[in-house]
Amino acid sequence: MNFLTTLRRRSYARPILLLMALVVLGIGYSVVSPERSSAETDMTQQIEKGKALFDLTCSSCHGLGAEGTQFGPSLIGVGAASVDFQMGTGRMPAARMESQLPSKQVQYSQEQIEAVAAYVATLGPGPAIATPDQVSTDGLTEEEIARGGALFRANCSACHGIVGGGGAMPNGKFAPSLTETSPTHIYGAMRSGPQQMPTFSKDVMPDQSVREIIAYLDEANAQPNHGGLTMGAAGPVSEGFWAFVIGIGGLSIVATWICKKGARAR
Ligand code: HEC
Ligand code: HEC
Repeated sequence: MNFLTTLRRRSYARPILLLMALVVLGIGYSVVSPERSSAETDMTQQIEKGKALFDLTCSSCHGLGAEGTQFGPSLIGVGAASVDFQMGTGRMPAARMESQLPSKQVQYSQEQIEAVAAYVATLGPGPAIATPDQVSTDGLTEEEIARGGALFRANCSACHGIVGGGGAMPNGKFAPSLTETSPTHIYGAMRSGPQQMPTFSKDVMPDQSVREIIAYLDEANAQPNHGGLTMGAAGPVSEGFWAFVIGIGGLSIVATWICKKGARAR
């Protein structure tokens, strides 16, 4: 008490008290408010960075406001998922026009890709990039994974093959192998339908079904290859077919050869 009274009497007491009050106020303010406002400025900065990168590398084909040009489609409303898929698999930025724009070496960091995706997402509503939950296969039962297999065979295997090994399509196009594709990009491809691929929206294919398909592909890729040709892993029919061609075919060649030899010996 004594100390405080002497302190109050000193000439510098007031400014010090004022300073302390300000510090307390400042701390109080920073405790209450900063999270939100700094997240917001992060967002705006990210979008600005994305727009700058877009103007530099994408606008030549997609237009300065992403409205599209003769060289590339409009990106208004394609959503962040499409950008993440296209850039994250190295398809974009496209180098030149081809019958099918192939995936290439990825040219940008994930941070840059997310910035461009965030910018494109501001242009119009579209599917967002998958959250970890949306593509997690944790806790799926064998039954659900089997259902993923059934969904894959019904919706995807016509183009991508029974276990996602890929397949040819008309006019020099092809459905790529899915063995190297990340779950997030599988989700992005389904939601955005790149090039010849149909779009699978949430109404047709809820997130749960996407997770099941991802789990099925995971499991199919984890199957050990026991050597020999897998023949698209189409199952016993195709494998039996080859056993027939090679087995019976081989035997008949041997039989003919023996006959010929027998004839010559005579
Ligand atoms: C050389 C021209 C070219 C450049 C450069 C280019 N694109 Fe593209 N982009 C295309 C074409 C052409 C397509 C359409 C491909 C198709 O569907 O056949 C396309 C498609 C896309 C799609 C898919 C649209 C949809 O409907 O889902 C996205 C997303 C995309 N581009 C983003 C980008 C981004 C981001 C960049 C810059 C990093 C970029 N592109 C640079 C030509 C280009
Ligand atoms: C009509 C044929 C067709 C069907 C059906 C189809 N796809 Fe595709 N898919 C394609 C084509 C073509 C591409 C290549 C597109 C490109 O290069 O932009 C592709 C690309 C993909 C990719 C990107 C692979 C990569 O990393 O390069 C994924 C993942 C994918 N498809 C998953 C699926 C799933 C899952 C289904 C079923 C729900 C499906 N597709 C159904 C034709 C098809």
